[in-house]
Amino acid sequence: MLREVTATRYVAPLHSGGSVPGVVEADDLGTYVVKFTGSAQGRKALVAEVIVGELARALGLRFPELVTVRFDPAIAAHEPHQEVRELHAASAGVNLGMDFLPGAKDFTPEIAEVFPVDPVEAGRIVWLDALTVNVDRTVHSSNLMVWPTLGVAPPRLWLIDHGAALVFHHRWDTSTPEKAYDFRHHALGRYGPDTRAADAELAPRVTERLLRDILDEVPDAWLTDSDAGFGTPDETREAYVGYLLARARSSAGWLPTDFPGRDQLASEEAARAARSRQGRPAWLKQVPDLHGKPAAQQDWSVHLG
Ligand SMILES: Nc1ncnc2c1ncn2[C@@H]1O[C@H](COP(=O)(O)OP(=O)(O)O)[C@@H](O)[C@H]1O
Ligand SMILES: [Mg+2]
Repeated sequence: MLREVTATRYVAPLHSGGSVPGVVEADDLGTYVVKFTGSAQGRKALVAEVIVGELARALGLRFPELVTVRFDPAIAAHEPHQEVRELHAASAGVNLGMDFLPGAKDFTPEIAEVFPVDPVEAGRIVWLDALTVNVDRTVHSSNLMVWPTLGVAPPRLWLIDHGAALVFHHRWDTSTPEKAYDFRHHALGRYGPDTRAADAELAPRVTERLLRDILDEVPDAWLTDSDAGFGTPDETREAYVGYLLARARSSAGWLPTDFPGRDQLASEEAARAARSRQGRPAWLKQVPDLHGKPAAQQDWSVHLG
């Protein structure tokens, strides 16, 4: 089971993502990003967070500690946004927490320009995403963070947010474990990911034992998938173990290998920007395309030496 803490202070909501997680302080003096059980993404998103995050950690990738967080909405009564207060009210009790990385920066396309990523590390991350069918690690929504950023130690890539992985758990009956993975817009495609090396190294490490241990970390309360016909949380656990084991053994069917080169990506991006300009009235055509760019450009290279 994951370690459990109790939230003692609500710090702020994180509006940048879709699920509006909250930052809290807890009774172990830690600070956590809380993913709420009452969010629109539902409990399956929390199940995916635990399974994929713990798999990442077991395979040697950097991923912050996960805990369960007891949350009393009363500590966030001062939250000004009604929809966020409603989210809290629907989430009283046990939620998922991820250790907060202080000062971490989102891995944006701008940072990608100057941040060196080793093809071997890129390959491992892409491999994990392909295994777990993670559709939310794209250029404009990388769910990767760079930390630390203050120059005390070299900045590294950290994985976060696997709520949109394991898409097969939304349709168990029609998904096949050999299904190909759409990797064309993967955040790390530009670094020449060595997915063949990753497959040789990591596939044998995804064992039934490992998967069972990871599924044991998921609270029973999040594993009641009666729509899919599973009677008990343990039956649901078996379905995840069976599917992921079969998928790990059939990587020939889904291993991403043919990544578009930098030039091809640049010309696709230019075509996309031109298409978005086309739909605009004449007076708007000269406005620069700011899609995905931060409001303030910063020179990250100073932190990356
Ligand atoms: N562990 C963390 N440490 C620091 N910042 C984080 C952490 N987790 C998330 N964030 C910040 O919060 C944002 C939203 O979190 P994320 O887990 O991606 O939620 P969503 O499901 O809403 O996309 C991230 O893009 C990042 O800026
Ligand atoms: Mg996110």
